[in-house]
Amino acid sequence: MNYARMVIEKEAPEEYGYDRIRFNLSESSIADQKLSDMGLSLPDLTLFYGEHRGDRELRALVAAQDDGLSPDDVLVTAGAAGALFIISTALLSERDHLAVVRPNYATNIETPRAIGCAISYIDLDFDDGFAVDVERVAAGLRPNTKLISVTCPHNPTGTTMG
Ligand SMILES: Cc1ncc(COP(=O)(O)O)c(C=O)c1O
Repeated sequence: MNYARMVIEKEAPEEYGYDRIRFNLSESSIADQKLSDMGLSLPDLTLFYGEHRGDRELRALVAAQDDGLSPDDVLVTAGAAGALFIISTALLSERDHLAVVRPNYATNIETPRAIGCAISYIDLDFDDGFAVDVERVAAGLRPNTKLISVTCPHNPTGTTMG
């Protein structure tokens, strides 16, 4: 696959340098922290390889959030970005189509682009308060659409859908 780095990655504080940024108003990452800064200590933490699908007890707790789910329906990932990667690579191939509301989180654009599927962009407008127009999303669908990608709350504006 052919991955391209997005501008947002190159400008990320962890690469640009936290010490070079005076006012960080909207970025979601944080500078290095110590557990002791948060009043925590883990003196005897066991580090282990773990289960491939995630700890069974954790998966059971997640499954208990909704009716009809079992722990085997739950897959634990190291962050949402990993889950989004799995979703794109599991659902999309060169024969498929993606409708993606843009701006969007980088993974939801660059992973499908690397896969080589057809992509329709539904661009949000400042003048519309970055609201998602469902009719425009529907108009962008094709018989081979496998995935519609919308972030809610929206990244990066924070707008939500009813
Ligand atoms: C819409 C959206 N999806 C996924 C992620 C990635 O989440 P994680 O840091 O849990 O991998 C972010 C991070 O900002 C995000 O804004």
